Amino acid sequence: MDSFFKKIPDRVQKHNLLNILQYYQDEFGYIDQKFIEELSPRIGIPAGKIYGITSFYNQFRFIPKGEIHIKVCNGAACHVNSETDLISEISQLLKSKDKGTSPDGRFSLEVIQCMGACASGPVMSINDNFFTNINIESVKKILSEYTGK
Ligand code: FES
Repeated sequence: MDSFFKKIPDRVQKHNLLNILQYYQDEFGYIDQKFIEELSPRIGIPAGKIYGITSFYNQFRFIPKGEIHIKVCNGAACHVNSETDLISEISQLLKSKDKGTSPDGRFSLEVIQCMGACASGPVMSINDNFFTNINIESVKKILSEYTGK
């Protein structure tokens, strides 16, 4: 924990809980319980309260990302343009819920409220690749390129 705090750059306000949490997540990909317990006495905030604050903000995750990270937009424009409940169908395909990781740890899913491409929705991304006008059939095809199935 000491080494983690020492390497936090000056631009990150070390007294600001959200900044610390975001920096930790950027470094390690998720917020783990051990980190919250070690952070608590350092900043004088009970671990339960830190956990509550962390849970409140949608940007934090408690499970590591998979090697293949999928973001699916659930914003109003994408939702309206979708013929089906894409989020549920993709969840079933990946065997993962929002902010969850597939049982084999390979895929992780994150539901986003807007990805900034509303006119091209529904949209999703896989790692750094962006896909527009998706439907369940195109999603299956795209995923098959990652699964090899
Ligand atoms: S609502 Fe989906 S990209 Fe904006």
